[in-house]
Amino acid sequence: MRFFSLISILILSLTTSLSVFSQEHHHGESSNELAQPIVQIMQNMNEDLANLSKAIMLEDYDNITLSAHKIANHPPIIKEDMDELFKRLADKKEAFIACDTTVHNLAVEIAKAGKKQDMTLVLDKYSAMISKSVECHNNFR
Ligand code: HEM
Repeated sequence: MRFFSLISILILSLTTSLSVFSQEHHHGESSNELAQPIVQIMQNMNEDLANLSKAIMLEDYDNITLSAHKIANHPPIIKEDMDELFKRLADKKEAFIACDTTVHNLAVEIAKAGKKQDMTLVLDKYSAMISKSVECHNNFR
């Protein structure tokens, strides 16, 4: 049991460090077969955000890092949804991408702060990420 926990922690820290160094963030242009409809992605991110909030209250740094990592590395949006979204957004497309990238980077920062067990930094980046996400919704939803 203990051995499996250790292995999970090792895998988690490895994938998190890799993601920190090789930032591949999708806005839907990819033909990646893991792509999902935007509503599904958002609903899953909402679950991850709820788990992140719970982990903060429990000072559960492993789950802080895991949930933030999932938010940062959400799947790409399916092409149909992306085409429709960019058509609707028209000249706001670049601003949408910038907003999404900022939220992605803040989630990466939360994952890093979780690994360092730095709660002040976790909270700082967490509140910035929530504010930015609400701003994205106000502008693009
Ligand atoms: C942690 C970050 C975020 C969370 C938890 C989140 C959560 C959500 C939720 C719960 C919905 C409603 C889904 C439904 O209708 O059932 C939604 C919709 C949406 N979100 Fe987010 N969101 C996040 C970040 C972002 C960012 C960064 C952007 C854009 C830059 C964005 C753009 C949108 C858009 C465009 C929709 C409408 C999708 C549609 O109905 O077609 N969100 N989000």
